[in-house]
Amino acid sequence: MHNDFMAGAADLAEPRQLLVQLLNPDSRADPYPLYRRIREHGPLSLPANNLAVFATYGECDEVLRHPHSANDRLKSTMVQRAVAAGQSARPFGAPGFLFLDPPDHTRLRKLAQNAFAPKVVRALEPDVVTMVDGLLAALEPGSTIDLVADLAHPLPVAVICRLLGVPLADEPQFSWASALLAQGLDPFATFTGQLRGDLDQRLEAGRWLRGYLRELVAERRADPREDLISALIAAEEDGDQLTEDEIVATCNLLLIAGHETTVNLIANAALAMLRNPQLWAELRGSPELASAIVEETLRYDPPVQMTSRVAGEDMTIGDVSVPKGDLMMLLLAAAQRDPAQCENPDTFDPHRGAIRHLAFGLGPHFCLGAPLARLEATIALSTLTRRFPDARLAGEPSYKPNVTLRGMATLPVDV
Ligand code: HEM
Repeated sequence: MHNDFMAGAADLAEPRQLLVQLLNPDSRADPYPLYRRIREHGPLSLPANNLAVFATYGECDEVLRHPHSANDRLKSTMVQRAVAAGQSARPFGAPGFLFLDPPDHTRLRKLAQNAFAPKVVRALEPDVVTMVDGLLAALEPGSTIDLVADLAHPLPVAVICRLLGVPLADEPQFSWASALLAQGLDPFATFTGQLRGDLDQRLEAGRWLRGYLRELVAERRADPREDLISALIAAEEDGDQLTEDEIVATCNLLLIAGHETTVNLIANAALAMLRNPQLWAELRGSPELASAIVEETLRYDPPVQMTSRVAGEDMTIGDVSVPKGDLMMLLLAAAQRDPAQCENPDTFDPHRGAIRHLAFGLGPHFCLGAPLARLEATIALSTLTRRFPDARLAGEPSYKPNVTLRGMATLPVDV
């Protein structure tokens, strides 16, 4: 993608106009009508930008399963062209394993995945219950709370800090870094960053977080504890070739992946219920409904709205030819409202029975933190409705600028 991607947007042919609208902050509160237009338009093919955009369930599913779909951005023509023009290939340092392909992806994921096994996550349940109770006990019944600042944000941050072994006292600083770095996942962020004037800030946040994690790794090397950073160091010292850069990149990925996403899930689910008050009452009476509410939120209003792949070879997806090196954008949030896949897709209905979605991805990069995110959200939502049975929306939510990790900045609720 070039800096001129958005230039003269008003004159651009329709596919590009649709994408430019997607980046427009005015689309953030409700991007779903736009997703529908893109889905109904059919795949957007922009060969001059080495880009294809897919928005149906079938196409997204096919790309995620395809053996030639790659995640390493160095395989993309666009990045190769930027490198040839003198830009850094990896401006943010070594990538986390989400942006690697086998064999490195397989090796690094294996080392991290023990910490997220369902058994390990189940053992965290009492801690999560205590954290949720503590956060909600601080809220005054009868007041107006901000559900993001008071619950949805602090819970996942505390959980991921605990798991990794990051001191909670440093949270404000790494929340700042994580929020900026999350914007780096937005489409074209690296190449249009200068237009938004935030690339330098994101680079600085990236440098700060890597430096911070490097220091923490040194501390844990000298004084190991029962946390994931110490476990990753131990794996390295058992003869596995996990380098210092790889440990830092893995911690970096987990902090960012485990943070904004779960904040968005809890807030999006709460908003859906506040807009359907009978569900709030129903969950209060039947806490076992929480997991269906979480799954329907993942389908209806997913925390990660899109992802992408690089064509590792020439590929054909549906009727579209994708040359080797082109980027494929997958609009998961559009795919999950595809009427070919789901009846009444624009209705939030946790009782719809089997709920199929791609909100955690699919295939070798399937979200490592899915069991943890589900645990946090089900406990947060069932406790919330029990403690505040008469909660009501106190105003419209406001949204952060992020396109990919789209989520609320504030959600005012009368409790
Ligand atoms: C609701 C919360 C979450 C959502 C919606 C979510 C979504 C996703 C998605 C869509 C992917 C796949 C991206 C792709 O294939 O391009 C992914 C991967 C990943 N997620 Fe999550 N995630 C969530 C929570 C978490 C948490 C809590 C953690 C860890 C603490 C986590 C760690 C990861 C990691 C490490 C990967 C990369 C896996 C790989 O490349 O093998 N996620 N997530």
